[in-house]
Amino acid sequence: MKILLTGRTGQIGWELERRLAPLGEMVALDRTGLDLARPESVGPVVHSIRPDLIVNAAGYTAVDRAESETQACFAINAESVGELARQAAQLGALLVHYSTDYVFDGAKRSPYVETDSTAPRNAYGRSKLQGESQILSSGCRHLILRTSWVYASRGTNFVQTMLRLARERPQLRVVDDQFGAPTWARDIAGATLAALDQPRAAEGLYHVASGGVTTWCELARSILALSGLDTPVVAIPTSEYPTAAARPSYSVLDSGAFERATGFRIGPWQERLHAYLSDASSPRLRT
Ligand SMILES: NC(=O)c1ccc[n+]([C@@H]2O[C@H](COP(=O)([O-])OP(=O)(O)OC[C@H]3O[C@@H](n4cnc5c(N)ncnc54)[C@H](OP(=O)(O)O)[C@@H]3O)[C@@H](O)[C@H]2O)c1
Repeated sequence: MKILLTGRTGQIGWELERRLAPLGEMVALDRTGLDLARPESVGPVVHSIRPDLIVNAAGYTAVDRAESETQACFAINAESVGELARQAAQLGALLVHYSTDYVFDGAKRSPYVETDSTAPRNAYGRSKLQGESQILSSGCRHLILRTSWVYASRGTNFVQTMLRLARERPQLRVVDDQFGAPTWARDIAGATLAALDQPRAAEGLYHVASGGVTTWCELARSILALSGLDTPVVAIPTSEYPTAAARPSYSVLDSGAFERATGFRIGPWQERLHAYLSDASSPRLRT
């Protein structure tokens, strides 16, 4: 089996490259090998590789910057995804793609299931939703995994930012009225492998995230406590931390359908955060 992986330098892509390698011949590309900001370049590159499996871990993920760089964001998250999907359809390849909890507006107060109505609150969420629709309308075989609040030992993410700021500042002020579930990129790679490992690979659109629910503030306190840092964390409302992009106040995903299809479940967020911080590659041990 020939595998084309995009976004190999990203949080999820980096974990995936290691996990997918044993499944077949891997062609892992960074943006110099395939620039998704240029949708017209996607067809020729994919066609020359002729993969059986395309795993798109690349994406424009700068949620606030997307409000001003909307064109680039849509080129990468929507137009190029459409090109990948049409290539997959032509080749009969399976396209694995990652989407986001930010396709929801956050008005619900119980975990979102796959059939809930979408209504993104920001440009990033709209671009990701358009990427999903491009895949669905292409008719290609696909596995779309919506996940949330991703962290990893590399890249910019909330966990690493809190660990850095806790050492630089006397106190942290963190939003306490947005609810979600932080998810380790390694677990998302594990979920992907579990889906591919079924007798017939699980296909369709699924939610996959850690279990439970937290706020950014509670998450920050947990990160610091697990890392032996005693910097005080003050809870603030979203109104005291204005950002360019509006975010859903509640975006917990129900991963039940994925669990039933694959038998794979990511554990509770607290347990997975602890596993991440105890891992040899974790930022706590690196500093
Ligand atoms: N981060 C989250 O909280 C989160 C939550 C839900 C869903 N997701 C989705 O999960 C996927 C992966 O997210 P992540 O957190 O692993 O992302 P990430 O760490 O920000 O990595 C993004 C990857 O995309 C690549 N990329 C960006 N622009 C590109 C371009 N023009 N051409 C080719 N590659 C490009 C980056 O390459 P460079 O290293 O060269 O920039 C990097 O490898 C994305 O689809 C994202 O929407 C993320």
